[in-house]
Amino acid sequence: MRDALEELLRRAEEELRHVSTAEGLAELRTRYLGRKGLLTTLLRNIGQVPPGERPLFGKRGNEIKEILTGRIEAALASLSAAAEEARLRSERIDVTLPGRPLPFGRLHPITQVCDEICAIFSRLGFTVVEGPEVETDYYNFEALNIPKDHPARDMQDTFYIEDNICLRTHTSPVQIRTMERMKPPVRILSPGRVYRPDSDVSHTPMFHQIEGLMVDKGVTFGDLKGILTYFLRRVFGEGIDLRFRPSFFPFTEPSAEVDIRCVMCGGGGCRVCGQSGWLEVLGSGMVDPAVFANVGYDPEEVTGFAFGLGIERIAMLKYGISDIRQFFENDRRFLDQF
Ligand code: DAH
Repeated sequence: MRDALEELLRRAEEELRHVSTAEGLAELRTRYLGRKGLLTTLLRNIGQVPPGERPLFGKRGNEIKEILTGRIEAALASLSAAAEEARLRSERIDVTLPGRPLPFGRLHPITQVCDEICAIFSRLGFTVVEGPEVETDYYNFEALNIPKDHPARDMQDTFYIEDNICLRTHTSPVQIRTMERMKPPVRILSPGRVYRPDSDVSHTPMFHQIEGLMVDKGVTFGDLKGILTYFLRRVFGEGIDLRFRPSFFPFTEPSAEVDIRCVMCGGGGCRVCGQSGWLEVLGSGMVDPAVFANVGYDPEEVTGFAFGLGIERIAMLKYGISDIRQFFENDRRFLDQF
């Protein structure tokens, strides 16, 4: 029986040398030392040992139990130390590697062009002011000398909220709001969103305009030409050709549309300029005396000019974009180019 104990120890040690996982060690422990394990069973049969040998048998049996328990525990401990070390090695960070670049955001091209235009005019003493996008009929139309039966008020041309409340169709109502609360001289620029129920390659139901207004004693059409020429040269380049073409707006008299020589074909005629060689970029004119009367300015004392432009249109011409809807699709392949 003593030999059986030694044989068991030898076999267990031999097996231990070949076990390399925590599960294997646990299995081995159960198989030898568990309640029905090999060693436990052997010791339970102590009755078969001759009485004189029993004390030694029991003592040696307990020693073997301690030896095996100790070996298994040591093996488990070194396994988990090795696992910890492997984990640390695999998680090691090489601090000498260059950092991963973070994609950074940027301003939308419409915001960039808007900021650029505002910067040009602020150097000329214009201040940026804003007005509401939900506007009354009075400010959007009436005060700007656009009578009730004017075609621009048609349901097709305006989003109405209620009878006398609409989404502004242009930034011109900010002229009125500004003059109502300020005495001349006035030099303002008003960027913002405007709304019209149009939708195709050159129209979106929401787009952006910038309104400009300058009122003072003795402001002339020459000032209008000078300032708009200066502005368009800053945006499109010093060599740009432009022309002032007579036009009509209810809130200016006289009125002029400003064209630049086609940036696509250089004036020879192409699809973009409709073969005319010219591109319309903004509307302008001398503030109509009827508008001054609506805000309590004396047209005998002050004069002024105003202009309005579409930011998308300027951006499209500046960057050669042919479909206005690209600005609002949030496709980063498009936006990342600006
Ligand atoms: N409000 C006009 C439009 O939306 C643009 C415009 C033209 C504004 C002439 C002006 C102006 O201030 O003088 O088409």
